[in-house]
Amino acid sequence: MDNKLHRIKAMELQDRVVSADEAASWIKDGMTLGLSGFTRAGDAKAIPYALVRRAETEQFKVNVFTGASLGSDVDKLMAEAGIVHKRVPFQADPAMRRKINNGDIMFVDHHLSQTAEWIRAGVIEPIDFAVIEALEITEDGMIIPTTSVGNSSVFVKHAKNVIIEINLSQPELFRGVHDIYEPGKQGQRSPIPLTHVHDRIGTIGIPVDLEKVRGIVFTEQADSPSTILQSDEETEMMAGHLLNFLRAEVASGRLTNQLAPLQSGIGSVANAVLHGLVDSEFHDMEVYSEVLQDAVFDLIDAGKVKFASASSITLSKEKMAQVFGDFEKYQDKILLRPQEITNHPGIIRRLGLISINTALEFDIYGNVNSTHVSGTRMMNGIGGSGDFARNARLSIFVTKSIAKEGIISSVVPFVPHVDHTEHDVDIVVTEQGYADLRGLAPRERVPIIIENCVHPMYREQMRAYYAEALLRGGQTPHVLEKAFSWHANLATNGSMLLSE
Ligand code: COA
Repeated sequence: MDNKLHRIKAMELQDRVVSADEAASWIKDGMTLGLSGFTRAGDAKAIPYALVRRAETEQFKVNVFTGASLGSDVDKLMAEAGIVHKRVPFQADPAMRRKINNGDIMFVDHHLSQTAEWIRAGVIEPIDFAVIEALEITEDGMIIPTTSVGNSSVFVKHAKNVIIEINLSQPELFRGVHDIYEPGKQGQRSPIPLTHVHDRIGTIGIPVDLEKVRGIVFTEQADSPSTILQSDEETEMMAGHLLNFLRAEVASGRLTNQLAPLQSGIGSVANAVLHGLVDSEFHDMEVYSEVLQDAVFDLIDAGKVKFASASSITLSKEKMAQVFGDFEKYQDKILLRPQEITNHPGIIRRLGLISINTALEFDIYGNVNSTHVSGTRMMNGIGGSGDFARNARLSIFVTKSIAKEGIISSVVPFVPHVDHTEHDVDIVVTEQGYADLRGLAPRERVPIIIENCVHPMYREQMRAYYAEALLRGGQTPHVLEKAFSWHANLATNGSMLLSE
């Protein structure tokens, strides 16, 4: 124990070390937890596990607020144990997804930049316990986070009680890469002084009122690696189209070969598309994103990216071993910030980001569905995609043109759930090609989307839909009774493709 205690430099806290089971016993039915964790990185692990153990003998439910999705099966185990009443603002676990879609868990799907505002303003349930994974607690009472920041700082500031999980397995070299900034109350704020991706504007840790620290738990469980898949033929083609688009922007003089700060969404497709920049002519790039996935470190290694700012680092198993084992190399090229800063609309607009996110599907006018399969079943959530899409210099959405071996076209007449309206979407990309929608009226968009993005197996069917829609007229022509017929066909006949 003694050698661990040097991680608690605020001496008055050293006698607050308890077991995870004891700390979890303070959490009562109906309480609200603010857990650290952002896309599988830096999540509180010991207390959620202890709660799951407690659920074997006791019935209770809590509200679980986080930064974003959790790793280490925390969302899965809590969902299966039946202890989650409400979940905010993002998740990505199949077991939790099932419970959400069955109506057993109330999921509030929320822009990742905005949850902090709700907490600050008292809009949602007050946080009873913030549970924060940390590297250490400094002498002056700051929590040094681990591989993510997420909503941890706002949870700590507003929670009634704080439990700190000091994780001895997280890389100690992360000390110094965090930049914690508290914007203050709305209406009483100064401009956020961030004008460059690399600007440091806050403190290296999260200030905590020591009186609120109820307990400290030691853990050694590593983050769980990401499950992203390697590039495949289609994602490489998408990356190729995106590069061609960026080259056209450079040729037009709107960008240089340094591009503009890049944001890239979660998942295999976004990672693969970003990876396509490794062998490109673009150089001295910067990343201003919410998550740093494998591709960003490949770009740093290749000397292509000079600085990256985000809220978390989420890597595959192999990449994690390499990056965490050699972190000195990256220390001065990375900052981790609260998600309300990484996803801040004003900063996104100020820096002029190129924003690349993955859609489930988009429609012939450019509306994007990122979240709801067939308009009803939640996949993961909107995450930060809305924060970026609305405010970026270039709002780009990528998706493969077909899913599930072609029974689904990911370009449809009308999306049955809209996360990003046609007003927020600049460029759509599939493995077939890209459509640049900027400056185009709805009727100008459709032929380009059909010919450049729709899979050939669905192209004729889409042309027929649009021809019929044109007969009805309007600024944005539709055959309303057929607008969702592709999804209805999928539900009834097992495919969106009409038989001859
Ligand atoms: N209809 C139904 N299912 C579809 C689909 C469609 N049009 N398009 C893809 N899918 C399915 C895939 O078949 C795959 O299913 P599987 O898990 O059973 O294999 C699944 O959706 C994931 O698709 P994939 O092509 O592997 O992409 P991904 O891993 O990159 O994830 C999203 C894509 C949209 C689910 C993911 O990016 C997401 O949740 N986005 C919203 C949040 C966001 O954008 N955050 C960004 C800010 S960081």
